Amino acid sequence: MCGIIGIASNKPVSINIINSLKKLEYRGYDSAGLATLDNDIINEKKCSGRVEELEKILFKTPSNGNVGIGHVRWATHGIPNVVNAHPHSSEQVSVVHNGIIENSDELKNELESKGIKFKSQTDTEVVTLLITESLKENKPLNSVFKTLKKLKGSFALGIIFKKFPNIIIGARRGSPLAVGYSKKENYIGSDSYALKSMTNKISYLDDGELCVLTKDEVSFFDKNLKKVNKKILTMSENDVSAEKGEYKHFMFKEIVEQPDTVNNCISEYVDSLKKNINILNFPIEPQKINKIVLIGCGTAYNSCLTAKYWFEELTSIDIEIDIASEFRYRKLKFNPNNLYIFVSQSGETADTAAALDLCKKNNVKTCSIVNVIESTIARNSDWVLPIHAGIEIGVASTKAFLGQLTVLYILCLKLAFVRKDIDEITYIKNISNLKKIPDAIKKCLKNENEVQLMAKEFISAKGSMFLGRGSSFPIALEGALKLKELSYLHAEGYPAGEMKHGPLALIEEGLPVIVIAPKDKYFEKTISNMQEVIARGGKILFITDNKKESLNENIRFGFRVPHIDNLLSPILLTLPLQMLAYHVALLKNCDVDKPRNLAKSVTVE
Ligand code: M6R
Repeated sequence: MCGIIGIASNKPVSINIINSLKKLEYRGYDSAGLATLDNDIINEKKCSGRVEELEKILFKTPSNGNVGIGHVRWATHGIPNVVNAHPHSSEQVSVVHNGIIENSDELKNELESKGIKFKSQTDTEVVTLLITESLKENKPLNSVFKTLKKLKGSFALGIIFKKFPNIIIGARRGSPLAVGYSKKENYIGSDSYALKSMTNKISYLDDGELCVLTKDEVSFFDKNLKKVNKKILTMSENDVSAEKGEYKHFMFKEIVEQPDTVNNCISEYVDSLKKNINILNFPIEPQKINKIVLIGCGTAYNSCLTAKYWFEELTSIDIEIDIASEFRYRKLKFNPNNLYIFVSQSGETADTAAALDLCKKNNVKTCSIVNVIESTIARNSDWVLPIHAGIEIGVASTKAFLGQLTVLYILCLKLAFVRKDIDEITYIKNISNLKKIPDAIKKCLKNENEVQLMAKEFISAKGSMFLGRGSSFPIALEGALKLKELSYLHAEGYPAGEMKHGPLALIEEGLPVIVIAPKDKYFEKTISNMQEVIARGGKILFITDNKKESLNENIRFGFRVPHIDNLLSPILLTLPLQMLAYHVALLKNCDVDKPRNLAKSVTVE
């Protein structure tokens, strides 16, 4: 949830730390800081707010030093201010931290009872002070090792030492940590993207591991402090390239990239010559799968919910959906013939990772559908189906959602076919329908100006509702989630048929109500529910793929997406909702790529 970077070099590092922090800002952006070892002192600079504030401070008072660490924060313990910003330093050490130390209160009490004083409200400062204490009797690596034994929680750490000015120690438990290699320079970072401009040679720490880096070498140790060797991976340009280019915001660039996202999934999984889907090596023989359980958070959960309708329609498999933060605490009856599928863009979401761990402990088969293939969730699951969307930087997930939907759809088709739930003609027809999606997305994107007009209806709105039935219900949830996270406007996603059981009371004159009504078996029912809203003064914004439905005086605006087939309509109906959230946020002057209080990768519970 925070971003960390560390550089050991033969030249000053502060500028490269700032550049990496700018790349890590998607992980947290309420405060920033760095510390370098400068003429035998720890030189710490911190600010509340964005990295550009830190850059201004550095411009006025530069930091020297060839070894340093940096941090961008998403506050968990203590409000976002300068004192709580990382690094947290003592006379002897300086620490940056991503994650949560769950027993920090207990450890703090112990240290305070020895007369040790704290400056901040963070959980991180206990790490600084425990290492400082341990350094009185131990060398750096042992001090960190002994401190780690006292910590509970999930975290990644970067640590520098005043008396050992050439080294950085990195440690990982739960939260990710990458190591990068270059000539006379080595790095640690929360992800490979942060290291992108400096190297394409990367290793990843496994859970419980530590590393010690100097400018010339990196050593790795396992959780028992035994030396281990690491594979060095070479990242391709695609793995690391993410620039805004001609676009004002990453989010819009990512919306526009969606035809490629779907195309990438198709070319990865569909053998066009043989008209077949290349998904092999199922962890459970398809015929024997009793139930599929789909688990995710936020947008990823919405993709699971959408897929439920596909699995029910096309397969004979029982299907269950759960929110990861609920799943991990439920009293479940695990079944070895169930396949547990975890959906996550980042592959680092703490709740989803914990739900996966629970499944592993119960010896059931797991699959992950992720964007980041080197992520914790991907590495810990039995079977991985990547979505190939490329790096997603905007905090609001867009192209990852369509990638997740595409892979889930492809998986569903394959299972339906190999289990003989659908015949070959239906299988091939559904594959060829999917291939029409990228061009249909392009058509939707061309009508952006219609969405811009719709967006104006939200400027002075007090709230809004998104309604849909069937597979349009999860799309309503996704539309509402996008709008609230980007424009801070209350938005409820609801099954249209459920309105009369309570939420109809919210409808008042002029309330924007987005009705998602593709021409499917629910169409007439949704229209009736819409009439109930109109009768109570709701302002209707109508989204459909129905060519025949003409807009009337009761419908304020309409947006028509191409019709390919009812099964695939959720993918196309998502497009206007993503653009709507984007344009409302722009009109309300909200920070589109970095909405308040949020971060891209939620690595805390
Ligand atoms: O990386 P993940 O897909 O596991 O993230 C899950 C959610 O945190 C994420 O989808 C979140 O809801 C997005 N900000 C929504 O746009």
